[in-house]
Amino acid sequence: MPGRLEGKVAFITGAARGQGRTHAVRLAREGADIIAVDLPEAIDTVPYPLAGKDDLEETVRQVEALGRRIVTRPADVRVAADLRAAVEAGVAEFGRLDIVVANAGILTMGSDTVKAFLDVVDVNLVGVFNTVAAAEPHLRAGASIILTGSTAALLVGTVDRGGPGGLGYAHAKRHVARLGHDLSRVFASRRIRVNVVHPTNVHSGMMDNDFMYHAFRPDLDSPTSEDMMPALVDKSPMGVPWLEPEEVSEAVLYFACDESRWVTGQQLKLDGGQLGPVTDPGVPA
Ligand SMILES: NC(=O)c1ccc[n+]([C@@H]2O[C@H](COP(=O)([O-])OP(=O)(O)OC[C@H]3O[C@@H](n4cnc5c(N)ncnc54)[C@H](O)[C@@H]3O)[C@@H](O)[C@H]2O)c1
Repeated sequence: MPGRLEGKVAFITGAARGQGRTHAVRLAREGADIIAVDLPEAIDTVPYPLAGKDDLEETVRQVEALGRRIVTRPADVRVAADLRAAVEAGVAEFGRLDIVVANAGILTMGSDTVKAFLDVVDVNLVGVFNTVAAAEPHLRAGASIILTGSTAALLVGTVDRGGPGGLGYAHAKRHVARLGHDLSRVFASRRIRVNVVHPTNVHSGMMDNDFMYHAFRPDLDSPTSEDMMPALVDKSPMGVPWLEPEEVSEAVLYFACDESRWVTGQQLKLDGGQLGPVTDPGVPA
């Protein structure tokens, strides 16, 4: 039976690991070929390791194991020219572009500097803008753009109390929500859709690291992932500490495929009940 994305091509940022990788694999399983980028180096305000070269190679291995093709480039979403080069290489190989997943992101909590604010806004907001701009010339009617927000965009006081980096994260994600809303209007007459997914905590390198264990369990000398669980569960009305990245990929798949062909401008909250009715009034709900 043909997959739901047979013959389509998806461009995914931050695809070396975490949600970016599971998005690549899920879309490939439905028949899409993949253009994947990730950052070639560290960012000094990020308090946990970002992906390495081996991680992107593992994404390639998993996509190719499904019989799909993948083009990868080292690219920094802060650098528009990197993204244009990656998209052009992918379109030269596959001949088209149908799906854009602006997923790359960082969290710069823990560094009490203005640069921590600026870096996270640069990656998580300017990077999303650059991703859409690089893809736009290649998109045709029926294309779908999916932006990754966060419940931090919608719930005042989650990470924005976490110093300049936490505030920058929330600031960037609020603007991603707004960007998705406004872009959906701009692209509508071309029959191109724009939607935003807003996950709560996700079990990826961004959460599952030493810095986070200490942030959630400052009472312990050497906290582990297990030690962090009660604090995460405590914030979730449904008692879910974090989502698996694959669970977010199911939402991305829905927006990517033709079953949602008339769905645009949505802010889909994968929040385990965390948000309830309390959302930031300045952000489209
Ligand atoms: N993990 C969570 O709890 C959580 C919750 C809500 C939203 N999100 C968002 O989900 C998205 C994916 O994060 P994840 O959970 O998979 O974390 P992750 O850290 O595992 O993956 C993020 C990926 O983006 C890459 N990246 C970072 N900066 C980049 C840059 N400048 N250019 C290119 N690539 C870059 C990293 O190397 C990494 O591979 C992010 O936008 C994040 O803000 C995460």
